[in-house]
Amino acid sequence: MYQIYPRSFADGDGDGIGDLAGLVRRLDYLRPPGEPWPDTPTLGVDAIWLTPFYPSPLADFGYDVADYTDVDPTFGTLEDFKALIEEAHRRSLRVIIDWVPSHTSTEHPWFREASSSRDNPKRDWYVWRDGKADGAPPNNWMSAFAKVGPAWTFHEPTRQWYLHSYRPEQADLNWENPEVERTMHDVLRFWLDLGVDGFRVDAIHRLGKDPALRDNPEIIVVPTPGTAGRRYDEDRPNVHGRVRAIRKVIDEYPDRMLVGETYVLDQRRLGAYLNPGEGVHLAHNFVFVHQPWSAAAIRGVVDGFEALIAPGVWPAWFFSNHDHPRLATRYDEGGQGAARARVAALLLLTLRGTPFLYQGEELGLPDTTVPPDAIVDVDGRDPARTPLPWEPPSSVGPGAGFTTGNPWLPMTDQAETINVHSQASDPRSMLSLYRRLLRLRLTMPALRSGDYRSLDTGETVYTYLRATDDQRFLVALNFTSAPVQVDAAASVEGRSARLELSTDPDREAGAELHLSALALGPDEGLLIRLS
Ligand code: GLC
Repeated sequence: MYQIYPRSFADGDGDGIGDLAGLVRRLDYLRPPGEPWPDTPTLGVDAIWLTPFYPSPLADFGYDVADYTDVDPTFGTLEDFKALIEEAHRRSLRVIIDWVPSHTSTEHPWFREASSSRDNPKRDWYVWRDGKADGAPPNNWMSAFAKVGPAWTFHEPTRQWYLHSYRPEQADLNWENPEVERTMHDVLRFWLDLGVDGFRVDAIHRLGKDPALRDNPEIIVVPTPGTAGRRYDEDRPNVHGRVRAIRKVIDEYPDRMLVGETYVLDQRRLGAYLNPGEGVHLAHNFVFVHQPWSAAAIRGVVDGFEALIAPGVWPAWFFSNHDHPRLATRYDEGGQGAARARVAALLLLTLRGTPFLYQGEELGLPDTTVPPDAIVDVDGRDPARTPLPWEPPSSVGPGAGFTTGNPWLPMTDQAETINVHSQASDPRSMLSLYRRLLRLRLTMPALRSGDYRSLDTGETVYTYLRATDDQRFLVALNFTSAPVQVDAAASVEGRSARLELSTDPDREAGAELHLSALALGPDEGLLIRLS
């Protein structure tokens, strides 16, 4: 699954902002290889996820929706969206879109009505309360954005506070109100009727809040088993009935899916959203994203999750998205970001589950420095949202094939080497590594659907097996910048081991390896075929 941030993917009309027409023109870059299209080089993903393109005043770059059933003119029209679905499906690419059910823009007509008077019929579509006697907000809930502070804003004309889990321009919908729930379900049906293949459900854990709006504990701790529900502003038990009802809507249509933005930093609680047949099909695992670059830490998360989830549940792994620093920057201690990003690619594409790949990660794009006068996001996320470089600026100008105009956020100053065109013809590039890995996944059943089992090979090397009845791979990832040798012979019965791929572009595939003395270079990952 490839995540597209439409503002930064491809600009079709030269205004410096990506749009649907630009995206359609670049679809061939993404599609799976093979019939009915000739196998020209493509990245080779199965599906794309588009972050919001709805009409929006952009207080939170589209996550403040002012109309759930239209396209913002910056991105095009509903007709352009229909063309996108058609063109994507012709290329065997599924399309999922972002559904933002927890809040609307304060410029949404519903909020305008709701805020017009205390007795407006839409008043109860949002969460309004009187403040405390001393003039303080109704409770101590805080916005997810540190800069915003309290999650409440006082509305002077009607002299009550309204709740916003994010910016004040994003008022929380009241999911206690069945009319809200029904109306938001109809939004799903609108897009399902147009042929979308599913939804990424924004802030799904926020659909369940304490109806009594009790204060959060002063120090919010990550809930551990037994202390479930320490927080009152999200992930309350009432969320699961709402998820079940959403799932029912999806199941009215054949072959559609849900992936939750389940920002719950406890894997047991995360697992609860994945109830087979009733929950979301996939749940983004943010525990994974919050790990340091450590074999033991990352293995711990993967093993922990595999042990917790019900049989038949399918994990969803990702390292980055539009809200988090890019991989090559996040793990750059000691200047090893680029090499580690290659190890991370091998990990992501060989774990059991659906890998989510954020646009630009396939090029090893680092965060881009955004000068203070160009900052537009309230939460420091601009550096991970800068435009995708398509071609070298020396041949197409400073827009690097993303735009002929002025990009809305700065283009990376590394676009001369980090761009799709240059990397496509370089077998040593990050893009070539991703392509190889995606093709291996496609053709090797063990990598796609095989069992997963990790091995004890010390604290610095994360080693695991992926196996079906008749195919077996061993993955060994060195999380340090020193060469290391591990002995995997004890835990793997196998006769022969052959190197299928190394993340080090200088190491050739094909060599026979000895499992009792597996040598890994600094920041190197190996994919080994066993027979
Ligand atoms: C999700 C989105 C993020 C947005 C927030 C509020 O976390 O990924 O970009 O700011 O929800 O909608």
